[in-house]
Amino acid sequence: MAYLIGIDVGTTGAKTILVDGSGKQYASALEEYPLYTPHPKWAEQDPEDWWWATVRSIQTVLAESGVSPREIKGLGLSGQMHGLVLMDNGHCVLRPAMLWCDVRTTEQCRYITETIGEDLLGQSTCNPALEGFTAPKVIWVRDNEPEILEKTTTILLPKDYVRFRLTGEIATEVSDAAGTLLFDVKRRCWSEAVFHKLGIDSALLPPVYESVDVCGMITAEVAELIGLPAGTPVVGGGADNACSAVGNGIVRTGRVSASIGTSGAIVAHTDEAKVDPNLQAHSFCHAAPHKWYLMGVVLSAGGAFRWFRDSLGDSEVAAAKAEGVDAYQILTRRAAEAPVGSEGLIFLPYLTGERTPHADANAKAAFFGMTLRHGKSHLIRSVMEGIAYALRDSLEIIRGLGTPIERIYATGGGARSSLWRQIQADVYDAELVTINSAEGPAFGAAILAGVGTGVYDSVEGAADEIIKITSATQPNADNVRIYEGYYQIYRALYPALKPQFNRVTAMVSGGGYDE
Ligand code: XUL
Repeated sequence: MAYLIGIDVGTTGAKTILVDGSGKQYASALEEYPLYTPHPKWAEQDPEDWWWATVRSIQTVLAESGVSPREIKGLGLSGQMHGLVLMDNGHCVLRPAMLWCDVRTTEQCRYITETIGEDLLGQSTCNPALEGFTAPKVIWVRDNEPEILEKTTTILLPKDYVRFRLTGEIATEVSDAAGTLLFDVKRRCWSEAVFHKLGIDSALLPPVYESVDVCGMITAEVAELIGLPAGTPVVGGGADNACSAVGNGIVRTGRVSASIGTSGAIVAHTDEAKVDPNLQAHSFCHAAPHKWYLMGVVLSAGGAFRWFRDSLGDSEVAAAKAEGVDAYQILTRRAAEAPVGSEGLIFLPYLTGERTPHADANAKAAFFGMTLRHGKSHLIRSVMEGIAYALRDSLEIIRGLGTPIERIYATGGGARSSLWRQIQADVYDAELVTINSAEGPAFGAAILAGVGTGVYDSVEGAADEIIKITSATQPNADNVRIYEGYYQIYRALYPALKPQFNRVTAMVSGGGYDE
């Protein structure tokens, strides 16, 4: 029997899973690590923490599964995107890693957009300069810690640092490189034009492979530590979003996923690189060779629901404890008491600003349209609906680029509630399905390991073999009509409120506001 390991170097922890060739999961382990915010807007982690969490999680799955390490055909890595790891010529990490959710680089984004020009940005990197991406972080280090950049000989992304520790190889692959803003997404290679314009030495960046290529083997020293045989192949793997897409079967035209985790994302497979002329949707290389995907990101999706539970859901949390069930179960039960559209109560989920379509760190959350008739159940339902409206914004951009959408694959915590699935099907006006497979990027990484080591013929073939639809929710025509009306109001709210979001931001940061 062929077994595969997938590892996701995520933001909260390293998750490792062990599966067989049919996708059956034998063991899973999550090892958490801290995230540091030494200053407002900063988000950093210690790459050493990623490494030891990975080691422990591999040891755990090997022990728990009972599978002989000799039967592990290969290992795939997935990871949080965009993070910056800087190493010197002795392979020492020079500063804490700056993460995708670190937004200290607004000034550097402005510099990049002015220096490169929106045209070249669009044509080459296929994406706008956003605070979370890697290139603005490199420029920030150059501007603020020049002595660190001078000592830097290697720039790595988070999962590629773990690859280096596992295999000794300095390498990356196309799907993660695509999120650096230094990569030519259409040609799947580093963009010399961008390096030249930004004055960054291209020799700092690692060689790039396709996600399914084997680009390293477990070293003898690491083999002893983790319990896998030396020489076990490690494939390129992929960015967490690309790997999730693989694990959800988003590997053919017409397939689109809607995920509601802490953040939310709409991901659509494309056979060629498509660029949103407004650069609102991201365009990245997919983990399947010669394929791409479009993505829109909602920064607070499930996170907004969790915020509601933690700040306004005391009685539901208490009721859940008494019944011995999850608090979200009680919250969704209450939400179901409110009618479709929450009688005009509309929630904007911009608790941590917004990425797609607004790219605005100052955007704020809001409840709009409240009257005396509205109670707790309306509030809860409107949060669930508002998150679906936010995801529909991304879906509309992707639809507008001519991307066919056959059905939508729901994933993440938001896919577990039948009410939320119905809300999504109605708001998107599309069939919404769920699938059988183990969830998450680690599963996609394991599939990539299987392709790279010959367990499967191709990423698409693996998905066909493993991933099956388990439920389908059809849109209800009456609900679709109601939601269409409210969605149009939702869309009008951000532009109307934007000036006030900016004024509130200035006031809260002590700057007062200009009339
Ligand atoms: C994608 C992004 C996040 C991270 C989180 O652009 O910033 O989804 O990959 O892991």
